[in-house]
Amino acid sequence: MEAHLAQWLNLALRWSHVITGIAWIGTSFYFNWLNSRLAPPERSEPGVAGELWSVHGGGFYRVVKYAVAPAHLPRTLHWFKWEAYATWITGFVLLALIYYVGAASFLVDPGTARISPAAGVAVGIATLVASWLVYDALCRSPLGARPLILASLLFVLGTALAWGLTRLLSPRAAYIHVGAAIGTIMAANVLMVIIPSQKEMVAAMAQGRPPDAELGKQAALRSLHNNYLTLPVLFIMVSSHYPATYGHPLNWAILAGLAVIGVGTRHWFNLRNQGRRNAWLLPAAALGLVALALATRPRSDTGGAGASFADVRVIVARRCAGCHSSAPTQPGTPVAPLGVVLDTPDQIQASAPRILAVAVDAQTMPLGNLTGMTPDERALLGKWIRAGAPLK
Ligand code: HEC
Repeated sequence: MEAHLAQWLNLALRWSHVITGIAWIGTSFYFNWLNSRLAPPERSEPGVAGELWSVHGGGFYRVVKYAVAPAHLPRTLHWFKWEAYATWITGFVLLALIYYVGAASFLVDPGTARISPAAGVAVGIATLVASWLVYDALCRSPLGARPLILASLLFVLGTALAWGLTRLLSPRAAYIHVGAAIGTIMAANVLMVIIPSQKEMVAAMAQGRPPDAELGKQAALRSLHNNYLTLPVLFIMVSSHYPATYGHPLNWAILAGLAVIGVGTRHWFNLRNQGRRNAWLLPAAALGLVALALATRPRSDTGGAGASFADVRVIVARRCAGCHSSAPTQPGTPVAPLGVVLDTPDQIQASAPRILAVAVDAQTMPLGNLTGMTPDERALLGKWIRAGAPLK
């Protein structure tokens, strides 16, 4: 596809993905909050377990929750499922457009593993399918009745998946596939378990029999998982902005650390919703972030003689300027990516801190190392930049 149109398609998909994702997570946050803020009704009503008054956008609202179900089903019942499905569909198409159509640039990385772009695509899709199958089987096993043990096991498996993917795919693609696997599990939880359980509740009510308790239990477990997975998956959605995370040699462990911080933060929201104050969770999450940032700081080795700008210029011209130029020669690159142009000495000097971040520390550039940059060249760039990036 023409690169210009591909970019607009990317824009349309990403925008839709963010919109639907916000709608999904928004309703999830709202209902979690609502459930925990329901109070006994002021005037008792048959079958009503709790009510909530709120004011928003110039209107007063009164919501009531029924202990089991209302005596008569209303004509219109809202289900809240298309937010989830649309988030998954737009996310998957976006994943395919960026990482599968552009597999050679974004999905595989010869510096990580020598696998073909087609094999990379197979690994990616197999990851999504297998993650759901394993997760679903574990939830239905006897472990489903031991939520804490199950959660610990899922965390270990998720971390192992991150480790495995960072051995096979480009680091950025590895991160996004962990996120896509979690997103697939969350959307499939809605499609395969939560909505069927709600349908069963409605059917049971219509037939005047008690609903299937086992279905209800599975739905509650999956809702709980979806609740805790939202914040980790949100980080992964924006992770491509942070080469300091996915570009680090311990990227899989950093992701595990960020997941713990995300789950802890969600737990704080949950406790707060239940009216239980917790003073240490948020500070602990913040401390965790600071500790991760400090522990993963790249070594700055300033020793040895500085590198000459003449050498730097040759390296940048050979390894970067095919894409990062006012007139890129790399096919499929109509304009310099993210506006990073490295043609003149001034431009190279002005971009020095960003070059250090992506080409020396995280080593996520050149993209997919398509231009075959060597470790010595990276070291030389690092020396030059850490010596103050002089133009002589
Ligand atoms: C094959 C094309 C290609 C080559 C070669 C390449 N880049 Fe990039 N570069 C990209 C793309 C594409 C992006 C945008 C990535 C994204 O969408 O996040 C990018 C982004 C960047 C950014 C911005 C990162 C950010 O998040 O702020 C910097 C800085 C950068 N490249 C530096 C370099 C340097 C230095 C080299 C040479 C060592 C290089 N690139 C080689 C394609 C390339």
